[in-house]
Order: sequence, then structure tokens, then C-alpha cells
Amino acid sequence: MGSATKDAREEVLQAWYMDDSDEDQRLPHHREPKQFVSFDQLAELGVLSWSLDADNYETDEELKKIRKERGYSYVDFCEVCPEKLPNYEEKIKNFFEEHLHTDEEIRYCVAGSGYFDVRDRNEAWIRVWVKKGGMIVLPAGIYHRFTLDTDNYIKAMRLFIGDPIWTPYNRPHDHLPARKQYTEAFLETEAAVNAAA
Ligand code: LAC
Ligand code: NI
Repeated sequence: MGSATKDAREEVLQAWYMDDSDEDQRLPHHREPKQFVSFDQLAELGVLSWSLDADNYETDEELKKIRKERGYSYVDFCEVCPEKLPNYEEKIKNFFEEHLHTDEEIRYCVAGSGYFDVRDRNEAWIRVWVKKGGMIVLPAGIYHRFTLDTDNYIKAMRLFIGDPIWTPYNRPHDHLPARKQYTEAFLETEAAVNAAA
């Protein structure tokens, strides 16, 4: 009871500001001291998240509800490891190039873990660690990148509204309507400008 009710997402999703060392991208890259980022801060950037029952994704009512409400008609799975992902080395390299998409990037981690890095409104990198049971939505037009962590494995459910378009547009692609819409909706609002000040 009381105000200290724990957010279930804390078990499967954690976010923090990255240091700027150029060590292995798979390391956590915490700042010193550590600087964590809240779910509210992520939501202000348009990044949504859930904690779900990854052992029962086939029957999970909560997942069904999210899919229905958000129109996620398409699902497939992407397993990132040398044995399962064709052109592994090239894909890994491309995933970590800063890019955006013209649609949401929706990933539900059903096994393993990985880092989704997103830019905040001051261009700093926020690292979002998604573990088994964590689901994340990156909004259309946000600059981001992905890497495995040192466990080197993730199995992610990929969701989409309709026929999937996974095309990455490497930075800079500021002229795309999706980017303009993202900046207007999340970076240039009065609240956002005040928060950054
Ligand atoms: C993607 C992730 C890796 O575009 O950002 O699939
Ligand atoms: Ni992407």
C-alpha cells in the first residue's frame, strides 16, 4: 500500500544517459555518476513502454489489448545472433547507424536483451535496456539506433500497423515529413522547450 507502488516495467526496462566513450557499443556506457531516465521522460520523447508476460505472448490478453488499441495487425519475430540472422555482421553494423523510420518501431523482447538508444531533445543519447518481457515503441521520426548487449542475443517480436516498412533513413534525414511531424509533436512544444531550458 501507499505511494511506493513499484512500476513493473522497472524489472524489464531501464534507461540512462550514456557516456561518450568509444568503448565497445555493447557495454552499458553509464555516466559517472549514473544518470537514470524515467518512464515519464521517455514518454515526453514519444517513447512508450510496457512490461508483459513473455512466456505467454500467444495468449496474453494485455498484448492483445495493446495490439487492438494501436492497430498492430502485423507480427513476426527477429532473432539477432550469428546463427539466426542472415548477413549478421552487416545488419549489426547497420542497426547501430543513427537512423529514423517513417513509422513506429515496435519491439517486444521475448528472450535475451538489447539496447535501443534514442536522442533526447538536446541530442544526448539515452540508452534504453530492454529485457525479456519489455516492449517498446519508438515513434516515427525519432533518431535512434540498436545494439546487442554483452550477452549477444535478443529475440524480438516486431509489430506493425499493416504491411511492414522497416526502411532505415540514416541521419541526416530532417526533411522527411515523419521527422518534421516528430519535432513538432515532441521537441517544439511549449512544454518541451521549457523542459530543455
Ligand atoms: C531497426 C532497429 C534495429 O531499425 O532500430 O530494426
Ligand atoms: Ni530502427
